[in-house]
Amino acid sequence: MKTSRRDWLLRLAFYGTPVAGFSYGSLIEKNFLTVNRTDIPVSGDHSGLRGIKVALMADFHHDDYGNEALIRRAVQTINKEGVDVVMLAGDYISDKTEAMESLCSVLSELRPRLGSFGVLGNHDGWHFDESIPRLLEQAGVRLLINDTVEFDEFAVGGMDSYWAGRPDMNFGLRSISKDKPVILGWHEPDTFDYYQDPRVALQVSGHTHGGQICAPLYGPILLPRYGRNYPFGHYQKHNRSLYVTRGMGTLDIPARFLCTPELAILTLRDSSIT
Ligand SMILES: [Fe+2]
Repeated sequence: MKTSRRDWLLRLAFYGTPVAGFSYGSLIEKNFLTVNRTDIPVSGDHSGLRGIKVALMADFHHDDYGNEALIRRAVQTINKEGVDVVMLAGDYISDKTEAMESLCSVLSELRPRLGSFGVLGNHDGWHFDESIPRLLEQAGVRLLINDTVEFDEFAVGGMDSYWAGRPDMNFGLRSISKDKPVILGWHEPDTFDYYQDPRVALQVSGHTHGGQICAPLYGPILLPRYGRNYPFGHYQKHNRSLYVTRGMGTLDIPARFLCTPELAILTLRDSSIT
């Protein structure tokens, strides 16, 4: 049977569109770093954080088609930006910790003013071994598992993964005085609804990948457990903020669509002048 020109065009559209979409998502968009600079308002109760600049990265999934050049570009941007604190919001790997070595060799180039901190993601928790904290520490990243580090005017805290670990906020923030504001790393963003500690001015999270594959006019097609209420970006509740990054890497399929990898640079500013 002879195939008409119209049939050929229909076949091309039917088979060609997904192939073209996947090629674009894996070859182009997955490797396109977006740097999002956002002002985060802080109230008078949290004035110790005014002017503090935080760089946030997450979800490297470095054993799953990790892109070292992309991460290096992000690290160079952070160093040029002159940030005070770097927070890594977990999921360094998907399931193979062997990838930690090459990831941490790039992360060791981070030069924030006060320090680099990390929390565990659910994948890190499910596939945890001693190389994760050891290699992060060698790279100059302090892993916070229900723990805090205190500075003169504020503290940086980190919770264990909600999905894979045993988060304990009372224990984690036990040494922080009631008037000291806290920047809290917690991998899963939906945990923002699970506490009301007035010391936490800003929670930073990842986990969702912003959906990774998004549909035009619809947004994320699939979101993970504990990441469905806050897919990406800045959210505010009373005088607390949450920022969810779309992350750096990919999981399951090596592609992103309408959802580029993200480095977030967050500047905490007096809410009366924002
Ligand atoms: Fe995750």
